[in-house]
Amino acid sequence: MKILVTGGTGFIGSHTVVELLETGHDVVIVDNLSNSNACVLNRIFEITGKNVEFYNIDIRNYDDMNEVFKNHVFDCCIHFAGLKAVGESVLNPILYYDNNVVGTLNLLKIMNKYNCKNIIFSSSATVYGVPEKMPITEDCKIGKGTNPYGYTKIMIEQILSDLYKSNNRWNIVLLRYFNPVGAHKSSKIGENPNGIPNNLMPYITQVAVGKRECLNIFGNDYETPDGTCVRDYIHVVDLARGHVCALKNIVENKGLNIYNLGTGNGCSVLDVVKTFEKATGIKIPYKFAPRREGDVTINYADATKAKQELGWVAENNLEDMCLDSWNWQKNNPNGYE
Ligand code: NAD
Ligand code: UD1
Repeated sequence: MKILVTGGTGFIGSHTVVELLETGHDVVIVDNLSNSNACVLNRIFEITGKNVEFYNIDIRNYDDMNEVFKNHVFDCCIHFAGLKAVGESVLNPILYYDNNVVGTLNLLKIMNKYNCKNIIFSSSATVYGVPEKMPITEDCKIGKGTNPYGYTKIMIEQILSDLYKSNNRWNIVLLRYFNPVGAHKSSKIGENPNGIPNNLMPYITQVAVGKRECLNIFGNDYETPDGTCVRDYIHVVDLARGHVCALKNIVENKGLNIYNLGTGNGCSVLDVVKTFEKATGIKIPYKFAPRREGDVTINYADATKAKQELGWVAENNLEDMCLDSWNWQKNNPNGYE
């Protein structure tokens, strides 16, 4: 199939492009490089031996997007392009609603115009807000967002559901990711955060490589076995494979479908630190700090639906995730620079 990947030079997008190329799909990437680097394209070539057509454009630009669709007939769009920093979204909500929501609307207008009606969207477990039960199934109520970033995901899910209701020739897959970490086994692509990492795993790897002194663990008085928050960490390559499975499914299982992509295992912050230390042999100095606003206590997936309907299960365990994150960081101490 010929696939348009928006945000394809980003963290999850680049890993998905590799999996798509390795399973024989043709890929065109659209990315404005606002949070990624063009040299990812060389790395993708080094891994797969395949070149990908790349457009350095913003999905909000109608004319530029129109040009891409004039040049190609796509079977499906996998839509990753979006901004994802929770704190930044609180400080600059207009930017987030414009980039994520307006950008998606523009993409949908063009897809509609060119009769490309298959879309896989990067949603997030954040849409569950404070989850009503654990593990979280896809039919759990969508929660109240805790920040503008989360609301952009809730809004886009709503837009896509309404679109499907209006015209059931659309085939839409909403993939709700849990906590993506890890990197490609080759260490050629991985997560490349700007400035101080907000997320746990890149913070740990930056402590390990000597860029940061000490990890702050946000809260040790939660109602969990060791007092630290519990999450469902998932290897980015497993997540990427989930998109390839969803693609197979989108042409067979028509309609609007929602899947959690997680492992189904809850791990605490201390579990991650200890597993990282065991996998790499590197000690991670840490101290307990106050709780971070907006953190939920426990969050992990029931991933049964993805297994039954997509034939997908996560294969990497937490040790693999820690080791691959570390190998990426060690081999690329300054990311793609
Ligand atoms: P990322 O920032 O690494 O990748 C996103 C890519 O989109 C970047 O390359 C960026 O340059 C590009 N982009 C952003 N706005 C654009 C625009 N207007 N036009 C063109 N390109 C644009 O992030 P990621 O971690 O790979 O996340 C991919 C998607 O998955 C995002 O939509 C994110 O919200 C979602 N998601 C991520 C996580 C996570 O923890 N990483 C969790 C849940 C959902
Ligand atoms: C966060 C976002 C979520 C987003 C996801 C992916 C918040 C509240 N949630 O999820 O919306 O979809 O990232 O980008 O920001 N931790 C520390 N020290 C650190 C960093 C994190 O103790 O330096 C803890 C956190 O308190 C949390 C766990 O580690 O308990 C995981 O944090 P993180 O990696 O930021 O992911 P989430 O908060 O689950």
